[in-house]
Amino acid sequence: MSVNAIYAGSFDPVTNGHLDIIHRALRIFDFVTVSVIGNVDKAPLFSIKERIDLIKNSISSDRVEVEGFEGLLVDYARKKNTFNLIRGLRAVSDFEYEFQMSLINRAQEPRIDTTFLMTDQKYSYLSSSIVRQLAKLNGNISDYVSNYVKIKLKEKCNG
Ligand code: COA
Repeated sequence: MSVNAIYAGSFDPVTNGHLDIIHRALRIFDFVTVSVIGNVDKAPLFSIKERIDLIKNSISSDRVEVEGFEGLLVDYARKKNTFNLIRGLRAVSDFEYEFQMSLINRAQEPRIDTTFLMTDQKYSYLSSSIVRQLAKLNGNISDYVSNYVKIKLKEKCNG
């Protein structure tokens, strides 16, 4: 029986830190669904279609699928019949919020379990908004995103 997991986020855009978490998750789970949220509170730079495309072009594995979702994560997990959630931890400061979210998700759906994976230390200070800001101001983002994301970010930011 294959053990599947969901890695959800806004991925605006996907960074090497996210990719690091996906690779780590693939060592534990047979199949990982990367789920891109549509109804994000933040105003996204990339559309959901673009964010999915960025991930698909940054990772190549037949054990990874990428798709969009809307609404509550637990409802989506029920629809997929997948109750393992993956979350990346970058620093201790992430933990309190993640702890709260994992307990809320489990209160809504008792079958949910969240697996926390520590990101590589070199990505511990990374976030999508930092990458967006660097790209907008012509900073060097080569170490932080795939080449494909870098090209698409440059197109988006420089017209
Ligand atoms: N490497 C690099 N950056 C990382 C990272 C990593 N390993 N892990 C997290 N980040 C960054 C993200 O890019 C994001 O950056 P940004 O704020 O600059 O855009 C930031 O850290 C926060 O990430 P995260 O906490 O994963 O937020 P998110 O917006 O990507 O995803 C959802 C949050 C989608 C999982 C969550 O909002 C959700 O489940 N929503 C559905 C509604 C729901 O069910 N809510 C719960 C009950 S109310």
